[in-house]
Amino acid sequence: MKKNNSKNIIPSEDIPGLEISARPRRNRKSETIRKLVKETYLEPGDFIYPVFIHDGNSDEEITSMPGCKRFSIRGLVNEVKRSLKLGVSAFVLFPAIKDSYKTPLCEESYNSKGLVQRALRELKNSCPDATLITDIALDPYNSEGHDGIVSPSGEILNDFTVDVLCKQALSHAHAGADVVSPSDMMDGRIGAIREILDEEGFTSVSIMSYTAKYASSLYGPFRGALDSAPKAGDKKTYQMDPANSREALRELMLDEEEGADIVMVKPASHYLDMVYLFKDNTDLPVAAYQVSGEYLMIKAASNSGWLDEDKIILESLLSIKRAGADMIITYFAPRAAELLKKQY
Ligand code: PBG
Repeated sequence: MKKNNSKNIIPSEDIPGLEISARPRRNRKSETIRKLVKETYLEPGDFIYPVFIHDGNSDEEITSMPGCKRFSIRGLVNEVKRSLKLGVSAFVLFPAIKDSYKTPLCEESYNSKGLVQRALRELKNSCPDATLITDIALDPYNSEGHDGIVSPSGEILNDFTVDVLCKQALSHAHAGADVVSPSDMMDGRIGAIREILDEEGFTSVSIMSYTAKYASSLYGPFRGALDSAPKAGDKKTYQMDPANSREALRELMLDEEEGADIVMVKPASHYLDMVYLFKDNTDLPVAAYQVSGEYLMIKAASNSGWLDEDKIILESLLSIKRAGADMIITYFAPRAAELLKKQY
């Protein structure tokens, strides 16, 4: 290599003698080339928007999730219409239930006049283009705050819970749900729900299963939004240990056998290896859930000026898609759709 004596002169040509034949930078040399070689694209149709609802007349800010609201049914209709215009057309409904309706047997979960059921009917009516997904789990309705029914000795009763989940799923299907989405992690619930839906003629209602749902600390802000934290104990007897990946493949195999239409990994960003593994091990579509804690980390860092919110939103979602997610559940859905409009 020739020695360059004068420190401040940058050589105008490549340094002679350097023999590099592979130069990946050629594929990054212009915006046009970069677009040509781009491997992963995000689009608004990739997103599922989780929305919180409550039985009030007005929308409320959620303290534990700045920037998110608990919508009244009327507010929900407006939010869904706004999102549809941006190209986001799939929604999961999460209800905040009044304490007085919470019971140990969670009967409110399958009340045909319950909050979710009313919201479904209203949305079917006023926003027929929206795809409506409902959460199947008992925590919002449970005086114990668990996803399953708790026995007097504090055990989560699997089969008893699955029975109630079936009633909940059926009542959502009756009210107009397009997809039911069990997030409870009880054994056998996908098969049981498929069977009851089919028996009752709801063969076209899909099941999006929370297949690998980890017992993560990233759900705290969500539980604040619904006031649904467990009264005692944790969720480790049903949600998975973050240390395990082979166990998730077992759950995947069972969900496939039991008839899931879509399988999910949750959370997303800290679990991209699982998203990749799922993509490699199933022919079913893979969903990933960017959960409340992931949302909040981005919000907190950008609200304090440490990160550029808009850029990190798109980068986080792109990474989840690159890892193999066919769809992403994200509280940023409408914002991300707006940003994508500007980008392309
Ligand atoms: C409850 C449920 C949870 C989430 C979705 N459904 C919380 C939990 O399991 O404790 C978390 C979503 C989020 O954190 O954004 N069945």
